[in-house]
Amino acid sequence: MSESTSVIPVTIAGTGSYLPEKILTNAEIAKMVDTSDEWITTRTGIKERRIAADDEFTSDLATKAAERALDQANIKAEDVELIIVATITPDTPTPATACYVQTKLGAYSAVAFDISAACSGFLYAMKLAKRLISDGAYKNALIIGAEKLSSVTNWEDRNTCVLFGDGAGAAVLRRSEENEGRILATEMGTDGRHTQLLEIKGGGSACPITMANADDHLHTLTMQGREVFKLAVNAMRTAAETAIERAGLTADDIKLVVPHQANLRIIDAIASRLTVPNEKVFVNLHKYGNTSAAAVAIALDEAHREGRFERGDNIVLVVFGAGLTWAATAIEW
Ligand code: UT7
Repeated sequence: MSESTSVIPVTIAGTGSYLPEKILTNAEIAKMVDTSDEWITTRTGIKERRIAADDEFTSDLATKAAERALDQANIKAEDVELIIVATITPDTPTPATACYVQTKLGAYSAVAFDISAACSGFLYAMKLAKRLISDGAYKNALIIGAEKLSSVTNWEDRNTCVLFGDGAGAAVLRRSEENEGRILATEMGTDGRHTQLLEIKGGGSACPITMANADDHLHTLTMQGREVFKLAVNAMRTAAETAIERAGLTADDIKLVVPHQANLRIIDAIASRLTVPNEKVFVNLHKYGNTSAAAVAIALDEAHREGRFERGDNIVLVVFGAGLTWAATAIEW
């Protein structure tokens, strides 16, 4: 459904991101598993990723990104009305990571909860928050994508350990005032027939972690990369096209595409199918790898702070992840 029917338009008033200090390079990973900088670079585009400290949790990364977004939006933590954290690596199964973030920020007026939609979580959260604001339920919302994927990575599996990293990105949404930009349109999708392509088998009610299955790394991420790759290109392309069309725009009207940062070959394939030149596509995965729900949020913040778009420009965010899930959002900044 087009967002143009919404009663109250919603704008993004601020963005923020945080990456842990520790850098893990391809060369260092090549000392851990049978891989090489050359393989990782040519197959994925990734050169290095960030790894959180042992005592640095998803909520810590999320809080630092949130503080930067609130600062830019000029909104005090105590005035935040809604906090949604998108993550597949919560601090604890319960309570929600958003509750820890609320406390660390001192945002005690906010309703706070998590959502789980893997790499698509940040755009799912944006859609939800946007609706709750445009329906009049809340004046503003803090949405965060945050992950400590290093805690669910099998560091003996070269198929996956070269791909992932830790980090967080955040955005502050609020009612749009006159002459301000707004979220124009969102397209979301899910296909639960492909749950097995990208999953953490253990740790839930279907397979609680035991000493035996922990030794089998059942608490870590597995992926059938080639199958995910093909489905990702098609789903992201269609979602982006739909969001652009619903916003009443064409690809030529888009200043910047900000995609999920999983694989440079996926990003290039989408750009060529959307007929968008590479210089209009934001890429930072060489620095951070795939940070799941955080990736598009970090990319949005970096692109914003680098001045890759400004007020009045149209941009499109597009994501894909486990579930399978996907989403695209067109925004007039
Ligand atoms: O964020 C959620 C969405 N996720 C994605 O979008 C990820 C989508 N998938 C991908 O990005 C790619 O499929 C990967 C980067 C994961 C893998 O690239 P690929 O070109 O699809 O490689 P492949 O899985 O087909 O493997 C090719 C070969 C295999 O060897 P054989 O069977 O051809 O002898 C693998 O064993 O590469 C081998 N291989 C490696 N070699 C060196 C797999 N991982 C590595 C490695 N280093 N790290």
